Amino acid sequence: MEIRALGSQGFEVGAEGLGLMGMSAHYGATDETESLATIDRALELGVTLLDTAEGYGPFRNEQLLGRALAGRREAALVATKTGIEFTDDGAFLGHNGSPEYIRRSADRSLRHLGTDHIDLYYLHRVDPGVPVEESVGALAELVAAGKVRHIGLCEVAPSTIARAHAVHPLTAVQTEYSLFERGIEHDGVLDTLRDLGIGLVAYSPLGRGFLSGAITTPDDFAADDFRRTDPRFQGGNFHRNLAVVEQVRRLAAEKRVTPSQLALAWTIRQGAVPIPGTKRRRYLEENVAATDVTITDADLAAIDAVAPHGIASGDRYAPELMTSLNG
Ligand SMILES: NC(=O)c1ccc[n+]([C@@H]2O[C@H](COP(=O)([O-])OP(=O)(O)OC[C@H]3O[C@@H](n4cnc5c(N)ncnc54)[C@H](OP(=O)(O)O)[C@@H]3O)[C@@H](O)[C@H]2O)c1
Repeated sequence: MEIRALGSQGFEVGAEGLGLMGMSAHYGATDETESLATIDRALELGVTLLDTAEGYGPFRNEQLLGRALAGRREAALVATKTGIEFTDDGAFLGHNGSPEYIRRSADRSLRHLGTDHIDLYYLHRVDPGVPVEESVGALAELVAAGKVRHIGLCEVAPSTIARAHAVHPLTAVQTEYSLFERGIEHDGVLDTLRDLGIGLVAYSPLGRGFLSGAITTPDDFAADDFRRTDPRFQGGNFHRNLAVVEQVRRLAAEKRVTPSQLALAWTIRQGAVPIPGTKRRRYLEENVAATDVTITDADLAAIDAVAPHGIASGDRYAPELMTSLNG
């Protein structure tokens, strides 16, 4: 797999990463054996950037990654996240971007990951009660202490990116970006990242699985699957969004690739490093093959016609979670 610079701070990653969240949380049944095999296969295929967060599980996803990398820490680049507080028992407390919490949760993540450094450490959400300069100051101290190599933010407004970058150079911003979610092309985030030389990591690049074409009814989700609360998977929204997926499927078939491959290759062509999530080798191999798919200018035009900005019906989170975006 091609290696490319993520941002301009000397951080190089495989063109596609792997999101680990679903291996421990939010997307139904988990299977540790297949998850570990999927991570192994990803590393064999040249994936280097592995994405987790202390909140996934909570902690179980970091611990899984720690087990996957035991004895071979340097085989991967570990990205994890802080700023959403959990007790040591895993109880959710809310946003906490205070330097004290960031220091404490970094040490806890290092323990769970079984490592002495995090390659890319993100603020998972900006804490509205703490100036971003203070949170980023704490991340910068972790860099100075050698516990963290690079830092980033998730789901932030352009002005926040600029303020944070002035405290310590950001390597990456991670945000939702896919054929279903193109908001950053229009709200100034993409322009700000380009202006400041900050990399873009695209999360949920398959629209939480929707764009793969494999989801035909929301009724099959487990009772605790996050997507049961996601407006895009509900009622009339689901059926309108499925019609868009059918158009994506048609374009993919014309190109002799799968819908997932088209969706992922598009994010790469847009300059992002996508981190599709999967807990199985079969999907991983299909998704990695997207790095060999070339999206031509004609493809771009055809994709824009079927999946322009705003095409997806419904917000991307339930109302109580929408308020933590664009921090
Ligand atoms: N910073 C943030 O706030 C934030 C928020 C959400 C996610 N993330 C990160 O981004 C990563 C990716 O996002 P995501 O997992 O939400 O969404 P995604 O990558 O858009 O989609 C994941 C879903 O698609 C399915 N899938 C993957 N490849 C497939 C294929 N080739 N064919 C059919 N189905 C396929 C997966 O199934 P299986 O699971 O069954 O394999 C899973 O249900 C996460 O793992 C996490 O690390 C970050």
